[in-house]
Amino acid sequence: MTSYTLALLPGDGIGRDVMIEAEKILNIIEQLTPISFTINKIPCGGKHYLETGEEWPEGSFEFCRDEADAILLGAVGWPGAITEDGDLAGGSVILGLRSGLDLYANVRPIKLYEGVRHKIHGEFKQVWEPGMVDMLIIRENTEGLYHSLLRRSAEKAQGRNAWEPSDMEFPGLDGEVAWDPRPISRSGSERVIRFAFEAAQRRNGAPGDGKTRVTCVDKSNVTRGCQLFNQIYHEIAANYSDTETDHAYIDAFCMWAVRNPEWFDVVVTPNMFGDISTDLASVLQGGMGIAASANLGDRHGMFEPVHGSAPKYAGKNTTNPMAMINSVSLMFDWLGETKGDADCKAVADFIDMAVTETLMGDALTYDLGGDSGTSEVGDKIAGVLESLLRKHFAVA
Ligand code: IPM
Ligand code: MN
Repeated sequence: MTSYTLALLPGDGIGRDVMIEAEKILNIIEQLTPISFTINKIPCGGKHYLETGEEWPEGSFEFCRDEADAILLGAVGWPGAITEDGDLAGGSVILGLRSGLDLYANVRPIKLYEGVRHKIHGEFKQVWEPGMVDMLIIRENTEGLYHSLLRRSAEKAQGRNAWEPSDMEFPGLDGEVAWDPRPISRSGSERVIRFAFEAAQRRNGAPGDGKTRVTCVDKSNVTRGCQLFNQIYHEIAANYSDTETDHAYIDAFCMWAVRNPEWFDVVVTPNMFGDISTDLASVLQGGMGIAASANLGDRHGMFEPVHGSAPKYAGKNTTNPMAMINSVSLMFDWLGETKGDADCKAVADFIDMAVTETLMGDALTYDLGGDSGTSEVGDKIAGVLESLLRKHFAVA
């Protein structure tokens, strides 16, 4: 019997809806495998902020840092929920955990499953064979443009505010200026780029030609930060002679990802470019309803769908829970890897198989052309998973 402590952060909107489906999956696993859980479900997010004046209860960050083996997050963001400092309420949950726990690699698999129609052309039309889209986008997750929030809170804590721009700092700009610095560090780049190369070694290469390839996506023709990122990419690539090096500017990457997705194996990119390009890339796999992510550091892991809280769909039982459930699979894969737990590894694969099988059937939400509800799809996946687990763990 292995027991894991999990922090569940449903957050806002559809984050809460899909977390219910994740809990179904956890229940089945607890019943049918030697894995058990201690679950701490923590209310958080923008709606919670409006109701209580805090983004999450005192001590929640410390729980995630000191007690939890893994963290599952739904989504944060609620209309009108802005902190007194003018920031996204719920931001200290998602961005606070990413930077506070050093979750420097945001791993976002883009994979077109069998039976899923991608969303190019805005209609259901199959262009590629499913096997032609299978890339891993690795987004730097602690610095770049997102660092500005961290910097503001650090300065606030020190009673400083270095944000009043002087005319000298912005030649040619008149009047009021708002700005966000985008620091990119050597150490921050090294760790995420190394992570990307290591991840590439464990994959089967690009779907188009089978080559193990890491593409550096940046804007090094214009920005200093990207020049450093790109330079470090080449330094690290020198240690991986069997891996093909590749480069694209972010604008061109957006074009190539849509035109020739089969070219890409692993992609590594600074924070904001990764945020934007993974929403784009999600259409290649059938949309945000499927896109999962893992926020990984050397010690901690947080798993969440790529989609947001979609307030207007909250509680409507229409959201696709697969992005969340795929994120649960990523969690078990990571637990299996980091704890050396073969049962967790097996569970990760079985969840993936259960989703794959469900995608071939007709219990699908509207985004995939079906008319099933969130809970029906969750039940379907849980049912398939149940029979897989019964067989593997030989439970009567
Ligand atoms: C994401 C989200 C977050 C981000 C938001 C909710 C702060 O869009 O995980 O991609 O910008 O990183
Ligand atoms: Mn995003």
